[in-house]
Amino acid sequence: MEHTVKVPLLDLQAQYKTIQEDVHSAVSEVLESQRFILGDQVASLEKEIAEFCNVPFAIGVASGTDSLLISLKALGVGAGDAVVTVPYTFFATAGAISNLGARPIFVDIEPRGFEMDPEKLDSFLSRECRVRLKDNKLVHDASGFVVKAIIPVHLFGQCTDMDEISTLAQQYDLPIIEDACQALGAVYKGRAAGSIGDFGCFSFFPSKNLGGAGDGGMILTSSEELATKARFLRVHGERDRYYHSIVGFNSRLDEIQAAVLRVKLPHLRAWSEARCKNAEYYSHGIEAAGISAFVTPPAILPDRTHIFHQYVIRCEKRNDLQSYLNDKGIDTKVYYPVSLHEQDCFLSLDYNQDDFPHSHAASKETLALPVYPELTAEQKQYVVESIVAFYGK
Ligand SMILES: Cc1ncc(COP(=O)(O)O)c(C=O)c1O
Repeated sequence: MEHTVKVPLLDLQAQYKTIQEDVHSAVSEVLESQRFILGDQVASLEKEIAEFCNVPFAIGVASGTDSLLISLKALGVGAGDAVVTVPYTFFATAGAISNLGARPIFVDIEPRGFEMDPEKLDSFLSRECRVRLKDNKLVHDASGFVVKAIIPVHLFGQCTDMDEISTLAQQYDLPIIEDACQALGAVYKGRAAGSIGDFGCFSFFPSKNLGGAGDGGMILTSSEELATKARFLRVHGERDRYYHSIVGFNSRLDEIQAAVLRVKLPHLRAWSEARCKNAEYYSHGIEAAGISAFVTPPAILPDRTHIFHQYVIRCEKRNDLQSYLNDKGIDTKVYYPVSLHEQDCFLSLDYNQDDFPHSHAASKETLALPVYPELTAEQKQYVVESIVAFYGK
């Protein structure tokens, strides 16, 4: 059936219309210069993102996935090591660990914010530590993996409880890589997402709050030594031209991507604020409609500024609601339908489905609604009315 109101999950065309001229002239400038790799645009973007997040060093790379890969490698993670993260995240978080020959170790999320539960991390670290602290290194169980780092994920645009995670990291002398790929602009206790751990990783995938015209990523760090290492690692570990002291990757941010991102960056705060307003509208609408028994709006946790990369509800009859909305012309998405501990490629990690009940439940009960900044009042109203109609049926 045709609907007069259509609501896509994201409408990049609407955003593009507002910045089209600036994007064209920025891209033309790069084309005129014929400098495409690691030039002035990338250097300027690195400086601007570093300032935006209040950290001294930023390194542009080819994707968010690579920002994780390079950060892990810069911290010396490799075969025989383990890295602790959450199973409810985009695949790349654990994929990057695995691609270095290391083992992802999962701890469950806390169910309100969907982020790493510090209590679960504590119980994992203290349990393993008591049993297996060898040569001052945390050794995981019978498998013998040495725990080398922790990756909390600031999922959907809200920070993990970084005070709690940082205290534990210090206690066990473990570095933190913040997977802030969905959280550029989010704040925790006055500090920018990605500026708190040893490394902060960002993605500029087109659908992100700050999205490029293709793939792109950025690494933040406050350590000059780690910044230098990450810079080498993005160019095959090259210190001087054709002299390699470590093995790295080919992972550079393109000038065209940086130029587009520099046009968009000054709008980022306003776009994130518009997302927050849309989120507020939905949450208020759901609460006012008296359907809280069926739908739980996302929680904004204390001391945090959420940037609503995604507006994710927890709901009864999730799949039925999704097809009902789809029939009404409202696009939604399940992030993520399978928790990573249940993915085929990680079956060898030997987890059971019920090892991480909150991650499993989130994968079955959550649904992302359209929250992009350019949503009209009519579209938002239609989304709320349609959800209310579904549960009122
Ligand atoms: C939480 C998380 N981690 C990592 C990534 C990987 O980023 P990219 O797609 O730029 O490689 C993404 C983005 O899709 C993400 O959402």
